[in-house]
Amino acid sequence: MAQELFANASLFTPPEPENLETIDINPTIIEGLILRFMHINTTMVAHEIAAELCVPYYGVVEPILIQLRDSRLIEVTRGDMAAMSYVYTISDAGRARAMQYFEQTTYIGPAPVSLESYNRVVAAQSLKNITVNSDRLREAFDGLVFDEGILEKIGPAVNSGRSIFLYGPPGNGKTSICERIVQSFGGAIFTPYAIEVKGQIIKVFDEFNHVQIPPEEDMRLQGKYDRRFRLIRRPIIIVGGELTMETLDLIWNNEARFYEAPFQMKANGGAFMVDDFGRQRVEPKTLLNRWIVPLEKRVDFLTLHTGTKVEVPFDELIVFSTNLNPKDLVDDAFLRRIRYKIPINDPSHEHFRAIWKIVSEAKGVPYADEVVDYFVEKHMRSHGRPLRGCQPRDILENIIDVCRYKGVEPTVTAEMLDDAAQAYFVKFDDMNYKMLGT
Ligand SMILES: Nc1ncnc2c1ncn2[C@@H]1O[C@H](COP(=O)(O)OP(=O)(O)OP(=O)(O)O)[C@@H](O)[C@H]1O
Ligand SMILES: [Mg+2]
Repeated sequence: MAQELFANASLFTPPEPENLETIDINPTIIEGLILRFMHINTTMVAHEIAAELCVPYYGVVEPILIQLRDSRLIEVTRGDMAAMSYVYTISDAGRARAMQYFEQTTYIGPAPVSLESYNRVVAAQSLKNITVNSDRLREAFDGLVFDEGILEKIGPAVNSGRSIFLYGPPGNGKTSICERIVQSFGGAIFTPYAIEVKGQIIKVFDEFNHVQIPPEEDMRLQGKYDRRFRLIRRPIIIVGGELTMETLDLIWNNEARFYEAPFQMKANGGAFMVDDFGRQRVEPKTLLNRWIVPLEKRVDFLTLHTGTKVEVPFDELIVFSTNLNPKDLVDDAFLRRIRYKIPINDPSHEHFRAIWKIVSEAKGVPYADEVVDYFVEKHMRSHGRPLRGCQPRDILENIIDVCRYKGVEPTVTAEMLDDAAQAYFVKFDDMNYKMLGT
């Protein structure tokens, strides 16, 4: 079977740790984690502990359990079968020790990997190893309509592995372009749940921003691998106006006493998109300056709350996207530093028809050129409104909602287009300020 099923197959798999002597983290980290788990659960089966920590029972968890038992921090409360099925209960002394560990950090979850392991894994799956050619890009851009020239510009920019600046009016596909670029990278990468740096825990895996690959989709998840890693799609992290300089450094949670990795670290192996560039509270120049060293050196420097700097890998494409004029954001000298600046303009009438057709097919609505031409003539041109790539989707979705409400098959009539257009543009043109009490 398997060939298509495992289309994601790649050679890289982080090997399962063998024993406490060779594992990449200090055994006290594992001990602390076990005692914190036991403190919360009171009683746990030995193999459950190994499963929670995502490390093997034999060689890693078992010797620590024996040690904890010998020191009377935990005891076996049921154990007539294999050692893996022993039921352990935490003692009062164990609780006291757990409280000491809680003072360092309250982190509970899969055991962390070392920074060295993280470096190795990022390097093994680096974007540097991927070349996006025109076929691959074309395939990933299927369903988006742009001038041929756009792909010719995006391809080399992507392979530069550095930064891209997309600018142009809203709704013409800047975010979609970024998503498709990441799609063109293909494959899936292992990312650690958490890493340990100088005794501190940094949580990297993010349920909200990372998409996990189900075990049946990748052969690597069927065999042995280091389960402290999650296999995810190459990530794309999009951050808008809420971006501040602080959120680009380690985020220390004082109650939990561990760190959350910043956006750019979570984006390793994929893309980091600064959307709405220029609308952040921080100066555009400061924001651009932030990336000069990481882009050149492929490493980023983060600060622990103790003031210590740590060096972490930086392996991602940065995409700046704005609908403001780049000239108003930074001066020429600065703009020159961004090598690839790509304008994403309004679609032509012909492209507008093509987009309308694609959206119609996707949504199961009949398509006709005349419908589009009517809409463009009556609602766009005569009002001097520019065509935008998002309008076919927005208008058709509105019509589908109306049809569903009326209980009829989705069809597009002139009257429906007029109603949809009125609802869509009302905010901008027809606002009656007197009604607002001015
Ligand atoms: N050139 C295009 N071809 C096909 N679909 C498009 C195109 N441009 C926009 N769309 C559609 O419009 C929707 C909105 O596009 P998208 O969010 O990528 O635009 P944007 O440039 O990022 O907008 P904004 O500046 O508001 O963030 C997408 O879902 C996409 O399907
Ligand atoms: Mg966008």
